[in-house]
Amino acid sequence: MASKLWEKNVQVDHDVERYTVGRDREMDLYLAPYDVLGSMAHITMLQSIGLLTAEELDTLTAELRNIYDEIEHGRFTIEEGVEDVHSQVELMLTRRLGDMGKKIHSGRSRNDQVLVDLRLFIRSKIEEVVVAMTRLFKTLQAQSERYSQVLMPGYTHLQVAMPSSFGLWFGAYAESLADDLTVMRAAYDIANRNPLGSAAGYGSSFPLDREMTTRLLGFASPDYNVVYAQMGRGKTERIVAQAIAGVAATISKLAFDACLFNSQNFGFLRLADKFTTGSSIMPHKKNPDVFELTRAKCNRLQALPGEITLITNNLPSGYFRDLQLIKESFLPAFDEIIDILAMVDAMIGQITVNENILDDNRYDLMFSVEEVNRLTQGGMPFRDAYKKVGLDIEAGRFRPVKQVAHTHIGSIGNLCNREIETLYRRELDRFDFDTYHNAFDKLLGRKQ
Ligand code: ARG
Repeated sequence: MASKLWEKNVQVDHDVERYTVGRDREMDLYLAPYDVLGSMAHITMLQSIGLLTAEELDTLTAELRNIYDEIEHGRFTIEEGVEDVHSQVELMLTRRLGDMGKKIHSGRSRNDQVLVDLRLFIRSKIEEVVVAMTRLFKTLQAQSERYSQVLMPGYTHLQVAMPSSFGLWFGAYAESLADDLTVMRAAYDIANRNPLGSAAGYGSSFPLDREMTTRLLGFASPDYNVVYAQMGRGKTERIVAQAIAGVAATISKLAFDACLFNSQNFGFLRLADKFTTGSSIMPHKKNPDVFELTRAKCNRLQALPGEITLITNNLPSGYFRDLQLIKESFLPAFDEIIDILAMVDAMIGQITVNENILDDNRYDLMFSVEEVNRLTQGGMPFRDAYKKVGLDIEAGRFRPVKQVAHTHIGSIGNLCNREIETLYRRELDRFDFDTYHNAFDKLLGRKQ
């Protein structure tokens, strides 16, 4: 068994090691590139305060860049017997560079190392989520415009209620994503702060230049208070998970609508064949399995903030190993929501809608309010008009005029898709991904 960073005299029991390391070797692979970037910033700072020589910094930086390349090319593993990514990187440096490799951990703890890794990971993954959200947003808006004239019934209590349209239906989900983006940006801002330098959670007697690592890693600011920086473990993940859950809630509602409206009893829309699956017994079936799985995956993602809340619930301040477990469900959640967004984008783009839904007279009554309003506009008091139309319906005399003239903001005739786009774009423009891209490029020597 390879020794641990912290191992002194007593050998670690095999079962205890298995139990405590858990799935960290697998989970930490998500963090590996960020662990290296964090170390690059840390050693650059160590040199500036005299804890490394300029030559040592050059040698260590070159080797960390090699390790980064190995990670990028899938040639990096966390070896059997090595606890985590932090130990693996340090082990590789000491194997290759000898004692110099052991110097990089001055003024640092794995506690602030994993914190900074998570923040860097979260930033990059949120960027990917935002790209996927934006694609879907655009597709929903395009479909809303394309089918702006196609009417459909609107429901309350699953009872036919009032005229709606596909313009409204698609457009509603686009606007929902705009709000989800606001929450995502707030989560990004909270993650975009530098915990490095908090060390084990109480700082260090070295004169660490935390402004410098903040700049080198492209963070908006440090997490100032070192105790608070440590409290950010779990809290940041929970807030980001809530932002992901918000997107998931939007998509899960959309998925249920799509399944319902695709059923023969509604027949409002048709999913492209390639997004349906057959039955092993019923030859006619084209089941909406892709949307069903989407719904379940989205519902599972909505459990994530609750899971994190319970793992962290009632923990006092300071680091605890409990926090490690959050990685198992949190880290894979980003790829899950990105996958979902891409699949839904493809399905929505290829959906076809039934343009003749209202020919079916079972929807006639949804025009009752239109008729009441017409009479009201002709001078009849609303309550009298309501009563007259009600009696006509009871007596089987109601004949709908299947036309709508809704003009106010956000209605069938005035979707305000432009305004919704402005809302979305304003939020999108507030993300500043360039700052961290430039910082990473500099650390990696890919830009001056
Ligand atoms: N694997 C650990 C985690 O994810 C790394 C930090 C270990 N720190 C410690 N004090 N045991 O939290």
